[in-house]
Amino acid sequence: MLQLFDPASSTFSYILWDESTHDALLIDGVASQIERDVAHLARLGLSLTWVVETHVHADHVTSAAALRERTGARIAVPAGCGCAGADVKLEHGAMLRFGTYESIAVLATPGHTAGSASYRWRDAVFTGDALFVGGCGRTDFQDGDAGTLYDSVTQQLFTLPDATLVFPAHDYNGQCASTIGHERRHNPRFAGKSRAEFIALMNGLDLPRPKLLDVAVPANRRLGQP
Ligand code: FE2
Repeated sequence: MLQLFDPASSTFSYILWDESTHDALLIDGVASQIERDVAHLARLGLSLTWVVETHVHADHVTSAAALRERTGARIAVPAGCGCAGADVKLEHGAMLRFGTYESIAVLATPGHTAGSASYRWRDAVFTGDALFVGGCGRTDFQDGDAGTLYDSVTQQLFTLPDATLVFPAHDYNGQCASTIGHERRHNPRFAGKSRAEFIALMNGLDLPRPKLLDVAVPANRRLGQP
């Protein structure tokens, strides 16, 4: 697996692949980083089979449609995310196979957005903006809902085995990965917090509006197509 970072939007993208067939899957590609990602695929001799989104992003434009165009990969998105033009819509419990031996399993984890999903792969989970290292995505736009996010994180993610590696879609503090057990015990948004306390905390954040919201959300509903 490769974890790749876009400093402009603090976004992680991930490339997973089957070592025997070199079929690859890319999670949350960033349009401005497409040359970097295509170069990594070529360097590693990988053929991109799937481009997958965790949700409709508000802070950067996805490379999904451009990667499909360049590589012939298909695009898979969460069923509830409201994207037009995807090849596959992923329901909770679905599996997406790549290569002979590899697959990701879809966990619906709404709350940051109504259609957010997480993906389990081997002993890891890619959590999108549902769960960050020591934090979580905001819930104040794109049909976000703090109570729904609390339920997703506590019932879907925190019930995975403690040793499960957590790979988020963003980090703003230089932390790349964690584990489910660590986040359940120490994530300040969730640890020791009731559902009502979490909702009050999230509703009181008063965060600035993302700079790219009006550009990124419509573009990402088209998977980055102009
Ligand atoms: Fe997001």
